[in-house]
Formats: sequence, structure tokens, C-alpha cells
Amino acid sequence: MTVTKEILEQTVQPHGGDLINREAEGDFKKQLIEDAKSFPALTLNPWSLSDLELIAIGGFSPLTGFMGEADYKNVVENLRLENGLIWSIPITLPVTEDVAEDLEIGSSVALYGEDKKLYGVLELAEKYTYDKAREAKLVYGTTDVDHPGVERVYEKGSVYLAGPIHLINRPAHDEFEDFHLDPSETRKLFYDLGWKTVVGFQTRNPVHRAHEYIQKAALESVDGLLLNPLVGETKSDDIPADVRMESYQTILKYYYPEDRSRLVIYPAAMRYAGPRESILHATVRKNYGCTHFIVGRDHAGVGDYYGTYEAQELISQYEDELGIQIFKFEHAFYCVTCENMGTAKTCPHDKSSHVHLSGTKVREKLRNGEQLPKEFSRPEVADVLIKGLQKNLSHQE
Ligand code: ADX
Repeated sequence: MTVTKEILEQTVQPHGGDLINREAEGDFKKQLIEDAKSFPALTLNPWSLSDLELIAIGGFSPLTGFMGEADYKNVVENLRLENGLIWSIPITLPVTEDVAEDLEIGSSVALYGEDKKLYGVLELAEKYTYDKAREAKLVYGTTDVDHPGVERVYEKGSVYLAGPIHLINRPAHDEFEDFHLDPSETRKLFYDLGWKTVVGFQTRNPVHRAHEYIQKAALESVDGLLLNPLVGETKSDDIPADVRMESYQTILKYYYPEDRSRLVIYPAAMRYAGPRESILHATVRKNYGCTHFIVGRDHAGVGDYYGTYEAQELISQYEDELGIQIFKFEHAFYCVTCENMGTAKTCPHDKSSHVHLSGTKVREKLRNGEQLPKEFSRPEVADVLIKGLQKNLSHQE
């Protein structure tokens, strides 16, 4: 969908000024499908497919394709595109040397999914090799392959293909279709709802009370909340997206004002790049039309690779330029003495009063069918999670 000028003017400016739309339509699309039959074929993994989609729908505006070498190097080294615009994570299309050798610069490449469906076309403008250790160190802060993002860097092909793309077919989001809106559509939604200020919330975990607390604290200051869970590829021990989606619907139904919150999927892959990814997450949510974005404790972190507030520290350096305001929250918890949620900023009691469960502990309890303390999770949400995980486990058996 193309956004109208009026809506674009009434909502926050997209990153770089233009909301990109690279979805092929009408006769052009028909011709492209026909032509693609004779193009060399490339199969994209789910990660690259989700990048293709996000470029095409404008989530990654101003990118119009996979990054060329100049942008890539600038992003890795300086967190900026070649033109100086802030961009924190490379958006690249990796292939093996063998595959790259057979592809000619200036040609078009048909992009298929693992399901053999044609999803798009790449106008191949460049192919280049890159330094994996440097990418790992600078983007993820470590070269340790136990880091799930770094593991991917070392697994992938050693050549990046670059150039503008066209999206021909959209990846299916099956049971999430009702919650699938493009940035042009969320902008229209906010406009229609009369929301002038909107806070975006990124999550890859089931919703818990600390999430609810920081979302609602933010919602006190803005018109609306865009609950925007990531549903693309995540590491295997994260809770599956379908179960999480049900948990979000449940908490919205019972505990959120209907006219001030919306659930929309963010169809991206999770990089676990902590501080750098917090900037990408904020940039994308600006493209979706958010004026504010939440960065809490260890945003997009994994294991002990990042300091609790490292993401907040990094994003603070770029906040003015980013054009989206960041709500930063300290580690939130339930305090049994206060009988309330809080953080070290608002609660004077020591840790013995605070209800804390690690992500690992939560997953373990849920998989064993155990209820979570109501101070940690809303019981309706815990029920959904227990049922969802039990169902998933029985499917795996
Ligand atoms: S993330 O990888 O998507 O960041 P998660 O879904 O756990 O993981 O977090 C979503 C957002 O909530 C992030 O901004 C994160 O920093 C914040 N967050 C999660 N738990 C807490 C907490 N206990 N206190 C404060 N912020 C939190």
C-alpha cells in the first residue's frame, strides 16, 4: 500500500525522508514474474526472506535493497550509511563464493524461498567479500560463536550480493495475518485513531508484568501503544511466536484499554545484537509511524554479552539525530513490600523484596506446566503459555 501525502505529512517523518515501497504491482509485476523464469535463481533462507520483506514494505526505509559495500563498511565501522544517515546493523544478502561466481553484475536474480515460491528479484549491482571477525566484533561486540548472532555471521556465505530489490509475493504469516500491517498501514491506523504520539514496543518474549509496567508507564505520556513483537527467526529456545502472540492478545484483552493499544507483528529476524539492535529497532518503529520507543534493560541482549544499560547508553548518543524519542526504563520488578511494580528509581527496598525470575527459569516452569507467580505474570497469560508450550512439546514428540 502506498501512503497518502496527507498521512505522511501528519505522521512522523520516515528515516531518511521517504517511506520506501518496493512491492511490484500490476503489469510490472506480471512482466517480472514472466522474466524471472529466465533469471538465475537464488534460494533465500528465512532470515534473508524477512529482510527482503522489510525492505520492500518500508520497514527498513530508506534502504531500497541489500546494502552495497560502501554502505556496509560505513554501517559496520561508523553506524552510518555512506550518506551519513544513522544505521546500526548491516542488511546484507550472503551467498557462498560458488554461488556468487555464477552471477553477473548487472543481471537480475530471481529470489525464491525454501518453499520454492518466487518472492522477489534482485538487480545485482555489486558482490563483495567481507571480514567476518570485524563484523562480529563491531556489530555484536564479540567474536564468540556461542553468541547466536555471531554464530550466524560465521555460518553464512562469504560474499554479499547487493542491489535494489522488488518484492513479488509476500511471505505468508499464516495465523498472524490479522496482525500484519505495513508501515504505510500503521501510519494510516494512527492517523485514523487520532494518535499524534505513539510508543513502539519491541519484544521477543512472552509478556510479563515488567513489560506491562513499562508499556503503561510510557502510555501515560503518549496517545497510543504499538505492541510490535518480533515474529521472524529467533533462537531455538525462545518461546515460539504463535504462543507469544496468543499471550499478547490475552493481556491486551484483559488489561489494556482497547482504544489506546494495537498489536502488529514485526516480521524480522532477531539478531541479538543488543545496543546496535536497539538502534535498528527504534529506526524501524519510526518507519512504522511511532514517535517514541521503549528501551529497557538489556534490550535485544542475550546471555551476558552486554551490560544491562549498554543499549540505552548507545542509543542516547544518537537519539537527537534518530528522530524518535526513547523512553528508557531501569530494570523493573514487583516489590512485595511496596505491593507494586517499580524500579530502583521508585522502590527503596532491597532485593529480598523483589520478585525476580530469569528467562531460563520461566521457560523451565512453563514447560513443566507450573504456574508463574502472579507478581511475575498475569495468570491468564501464564495459562496461555503453559497450554501453548505443552501443545508444542506434544507436537515434537
Ligand atoms: S528483546 O530482546 O526484544 O529486547 P524482551 O522481549 O525481553 O527482549 O524485552 C522487550 C523490551 O522490554 C526491551 O526494551 C527490554 O529492554 C525491556 N525489558 C524486558 N524486561 C524488562 C525488565 N524487567 N525491566 C525493564 N525493562 C525490561
